[in-house]
Amino acid sequence: MARHIYIHIPFCEKKCAYCSFYSVADNSPQKAYFDAVRKELEHIGNNISLYPDVNDDKRDTVYFGGGTPSAVSETEIRDILGRVREIFGIGDDAEMTIEVNPHSLTPEKALAYREAGFNRISIGVQSLTDDVLEVLGRLHDRSGALRALKVAAEAGFENISADLMTGVPGQTVDQIISDAKTLIDSGVKHISMYSLSIEEGTLFEQRYGKDIEKYISQEEDRDMYHALRGFLSENGYFPYEISNCAQKGYESVHNGSYWKGYEYFGIGSGARGYINGKRYSKGDDISAYIEAPLSIEIEEVMDGISKMHEYAMLMLRTSEGVCFSEFLRRFGKDLTEVFGKEIEKNVSDGLLEEDDVGIRLTDKGLDLANIVFEDFL
Ligand SMILES: C[S@@+](CC[C@H](N)C(=O)[O-])C[C@H]1O[C@@H](n2cnc3c(N)ncnc32)[C@H](O)[C@@H]1O
Ligand code: SF4
Repeated sequence: MARHIYIHIPFCEKKCAYCSFYSVADNSPQKAYFDAVRKELEHIGNNISLYPDVNDDKRDTVYFGGGTPSAVSETEIRDILGRVREIFGIGDDAEMTIEVNPHSLTPEKALAYREAGFNRISIGVQSLTDDVLEVLGRLHDRSGALRALKVAAEAGFENISADLMTGVPGQTVDQIISDAKTLIDSGVKHISMYSLSIEEGTLFEQRYGKDIEKYISQEEDRDMYHALRGFLSENGYFPYEISNCAQKGYESVHNGSYWKGYEYFGIGSGARGYINGKRYSKGDDISAYIEAPLSIEIEEVMDGISKMHEYAMLMLRTSEGVCFSEFLRRFGKDLTEVFGKEIEKNVSDGLLEEDDVGIRLTDKGLDLANIVFEDFL
């Protein structure tokens, strides 16, 4: 049994032009925000018996994401993690991750995170090529990103993950590979690959909109993705999920819990959660959250059928795919009985492969994953 807890920190030093994650570049509500998070945690703590631990995996996980957790005071982060650990009785072997931006990660913050108990750090490197970082409008350059990697290691973080973006206008395969090589040399254990997507309401939408293909074609984007994935794989970073590669033993346990359809608490404005069979949102509005930190909006009540569909779709993201025996154990049904037609169609289209163990995406399927997922949803 295990608990999974996500805490959203909706603050950034500056909003990046491509990003639609919920966050604001405004420090003023921070104090009131963390007081509200403490209220939400206290309420959960007082009612913990209403939230039975139904997950049948082994390790607890806590994930502070954003936004940018490193953009706020480390004292607040430390206090919130301490409360989370106490309220949920988080085990000592838990994976505790904090997301940081290279620009705001200081040696003092990194040390404070270690002392608080974080044992995994995810750094938003994005690129180690200054031209690419400039297109993205990041606050740090290559040397700033390298400094952050060093700061994290010197603070005692051994489990370091880095985010790398691909498909950025002007970016080349050679640059990506050179960036990945530098990351490997710096000792990171895990790399998340984000292919640039043009999100609604962002400045990138105004800048590139539907014309993105004029700046970078789908084909170039896919070339970068496959080159990066292949390079990482050859160098001992196993592509265990569509967008994630890791050395053995360093796969993200927290993200793994999402793909396996386990329940998790989502705390703070901008968070999503899944508890007692209900998927909910905490809303993207800091002021509303400060007013009513306990309020939630139910997005979906998961019945047995939707759980099966979602599980199949999410597990297809992983290299393991959907395993026949695990599906039977979880849902008491044969995978081929439920998804016979979908499997047959996608296998014949070359998007899925099937063997005695289960089904998974082929290389072609990796590029057309959304088409496959739609069939399974
Ligand atoms: C919450 S942020 C990570 C931490 C920190 N805020 C930072 O930017 O350094 C999560 C990741 O999402 C990715 N991301 C955000 N917007 C994206 C987009 N439009 N397309 C692709 N990746 C995106 C970035 O790689 C970013 O590192
Ligand atoms: S990429 Fe990170 S720093 Fe930039 S706006 Fe998104 S969450 Fe904030």
